[in-house]
Amino acid sequence: MPNSFEPIGFIETCFKERFGTPRQPGLVPSSWGILRLRPELNLSDALQGLEGFSHIWLIFVFHQNTNKGLKTKVHPPRMEGEKIGLFATRTPHRPNPIGLSVVKLERIEGNTLHLSGVDLVDGSPILDIKPYLPSADSLPHAQVGWTSSRPERTVEVLMTEEATADLRGLLPAGIDATRFKEAVREILELDPRPTFYKGTLEKPNPYTDVYGFRLDDFNVVYRMEGVRATVLHIQKWTDDPSAPPRP
Ligand SMILES: C[S@@+](CC[C@H](N)C(=O)[O-])C[C@H]1O[C@@H](n2cnc3c(N)ncnc32)[C@H](O)[C@@H]1O
Repeated sequence: MPNSFEPIGFIETCFKERFGTPRQPGLVPSSWGILRLRPELNLSDALQGLEGFSHIWLIFVFHQNTNKGLKTKVHPPRMEGEKIGLFATRTPHRPNPIGLSVVKLERIEGNTLHLSGVDLVDGSPILDIKPYLPSADSLPHAQVGWTSSRPERTVEVLMTEEATADLRGLLPAGIDATRFKEAVREILELDPRPTFYKGTLEKPNPYTDVYGFRLDDFNVVYRMEGVRATVLHIQKWTDDPSAPPRP
């Protein structure tokens, strides 16, 4: 049995950093990703027939993990500070840092798969692709443990005139501004901040704070006031140390 695996390719996604990346696929349907299979592996024939599937599983490596050592209990964001065993969660911090995501297959061009609804950070190494089979993979009556009593919060998202004007400016860069705006809204509705910053469902952090996250090659600057996010600006990404903080 092999105990090491080689990536079949690397995915490019609109999520260039972990902050702002959704916690599960499908939560940001407007997100996008491109998976290019490594040409030297000559895998084009292996894709034959996959074009008939609307969704695929990606098995990948959490290559951006920075944790040192393994914690057997973790703080899932939805638990708002409480801990639970790592195998009862989808945390990236696992004995084998392997991720599993079902994503939408938009189209295949040669060796390249165009995807949406992704939750992978740009550059994630992909180990395998499998078709999503509702007959085997969809279990609508399955019990969902601790998650059933922990609803995700929803944030109201507003766009300032300035941000809307910034969006118009993205068009020359070849960006679909409507889709970009949709992705920003879907990301912020989920409040990507860790519990320490956002407070709990019953007691949201009442303070006003400005944050930023990177989407594609742009920096989205927004203000949080309780459970309202106001997008202030969308700027071309620069590695500027004075940019608003990522919590
Ligand atoms: C909770 S995990 C779930 C991933 C997958 N759907 C699963 O269940 O295995 C999703 C989070 O993992 C993080 N993530 C995504 N890709 C990553 C990567 N390549 N390295 C490290 N962290 C990553 C992002 O912060 C994202 O919000």
